[in-house]
Amino acid sequence: MCGIVGFIGERPATPIVMQGLQALEYRGYDSAGVSTVTDGRITTTRQVGQVADLSKILEDSSAMLAIGHTRWATHGAPSITNAHPHSSADGSIAIVHNGIIENHEQLRTKLQQAGYEFKSETDTEVIPHLIDYYFKQTKSIESAFHTALRDLRGAYAIAVVSSHEPDTLYAARLSSPLVIGVGDNEYILASDPTALIQHTKKVIYLNDFDVARITTGDLAVTNLESDSPTIPEVELLDLESEDAQKGHYEHFMIKEINEAPQTIQSAIRGRVLANEGIVKLGGLDNVVAQLRYIDRIVIVACGTSFYAGLVGEYLIEELAGIPVEVQQASEFKYRSEPFSRGTAILAVSQSGETADTIAALDKVKDYGVLRLGIVNAPGSTIARMTDAGVYCHAGPEQAVASTKAFIAQVTVLALIALHLSNGSTKDYKPLLKELVSLPDKAAAVLALSDQIKVIAEKYAPARDFLFIGRHYGYPCALEGALKLKEVSYIHAEGYAAGEMKHGPLAMIDENFPTFAIATDSPLLEKTMSNIQEIRARSGPVIALATEGNEAIAQLADDVIYLPPTLEQTQPLLISIATQLFAYHVAVARGFNVDRPRNLAKSVTVE
Ligand code: AGP
Repeated sequence: MCGIVGFIGERPATPIVMQGLQALEYRGYDSAGVSTVTDGRITTTRQVGQVADLSKILEDSSAMLAIGHTRWATHGAPSITNAHPHSSADGSIAIVHNGIIENHEQLRTKLQQAGYEFKSETDTEVIPHLIDYYFKQTKSIESAFHTALRDLRGAYAIAVVSSHEPDTLYAARLSSPLVIGVGDNEYILASDPTALIQHTKKVIYLNDFDVARITTGDLAVTNLESDSPTIPEVELLDLESEDAQKGHYEHFMIKEINEAPQTIQSAIRGRVLANEGIVKLGGLDNVVAQLRYIDRIVIVACGTSFYAGLVGEYLIEELAGIPVEVQQASEFKYRSEPFSRGTAILAVSQSGETADTIAALDKVKDYGVLRLGIVNAPGSTIARMTDAGVYCHAGPEQAVASTKAFIAQVTVLALIALHLSNGSTKDYKPLLKELVSLPDKAAAVLALSDQIKVIAEKYAPARDFLFIGRHYGYPCALEGALKLKEVSYIHAEGYAAGEMKHGPLAMIDENFPTFAIATDSPLLEKTMSNIQEIRARSGPVIALATEGNEAIAQLADDVIYLPPTLEQTQPLLISIATQLFAYHVAVARGFNVDRPRNLAKSVTVE
């Protein structure tokens, strides 16, 4: 996905837009560009690479109206020609866009037949030419923009400036997030609030089909679907500016890993009364009656959120006795599976903007099933689509590799499992008490960072890695493998330990290390047998064990000991250790930990 920023006000726009782009760079960073409007003229500067590369060539400007973009390439390789902003042929219209125009080829053909020439390979470039095409008929940028939007199919968040209206900023949203910060005689437009939080906490979230017309002192919103003006609702952000910065950490990833204790606290705050044995989830209050009749839950998610869902499967089945199935959202949307009215669809998403997960929820919107969400980003699309849900309250997660969000999601899933159990399970109170004491144990795992760093540096040259685990350790193995592969680019694979003899053992030799999740559980002996099998084939083994298990030190090459905790809360401690391991390997390998190649923070295209 990409990041877009716009500013209109009574002070220089470029520094504000550039600072906003830096805050959004986690969304995509293969090229960037800015268009400024000064004395009725548009000046556009674009560069391949990161925002810092753009700032090196950007000239000072007194412009008080500007738009900017940082790109994650979908159509067309990273290049200056494909970088945004894109302009009309005469340069009188410039636009930035996040999303995908699905009918761009038909529109390009129509425009080419009308004499328009294209310079880029992007879908986006149809937009400025389309606006220009209609402007030539209407002589009104506003009506030309509205008409052009009606021709577009797909997803968009767009900002537009034009020399025909040099004191106006236009914006529109369909399925791609767009928020407007409201300042004193100024407005800042952005893909998410982290780009504007330094300037204002008053925001307006545009809804689908909303079009905003913004001047220095005024903002008017029209909805193209209802074809009527709407009264924008100003909300207050609860985001703190410093939350979105790195603090004393070298990378966002290590900062966010170290936030695990407060992430658990934030996820349970106001929701757990351990002594009274009560779990309160206000976000589910409006569906309490329907929850009583739920006889099946399908969790839909992608990536790390999918693996959090797998932990949730065990939790909800064990604590609430409700069958759970976890499906990758990208597969769910194409299945033809029957749903009873007792089915609930639970979407898990950090960003709340993942296209596949949105598509999964959209698929069932008319099925009469309950749609629930576990989301970290308030006001996000998934948060708005679902009937009810539970926010993670983890604060902004900037690193592409999701770490604290996983911790928050698993914590919330434990709360939901307890909530659904209505206290009927013997594990209820012990689990509640353990959740309250877990932040201290999370801090103890974080204190192992230096030891884990030494182990990570030893294995950093590996070309392949296997992660194995059983029961609660199995989704942790999958998540641990994802973390390692996405920041260190090592081919890492997660496997159920019980599957080793069914194939994976054939890969094992002295060059193929295994990360074995062997924390205390009724299945520990079996996992220790797996470790023996691997060692018998000269496979190096790093074991994650529970303090007190001395025997495992005789088997594994390296052991990381975790504090004892309940089996249901082990994933929270295990994942901190595997996150630290992945982080230190990536740093040892010299990669851009927060911005891994080829990836983006939120995948808002299918
Ligand atoms: C996680 O480290 C990855 N960056 C990625 O798999 C992510 O979890 C996935 O894209 C889902 O994102 P979401 O939670 O925002 O929906």
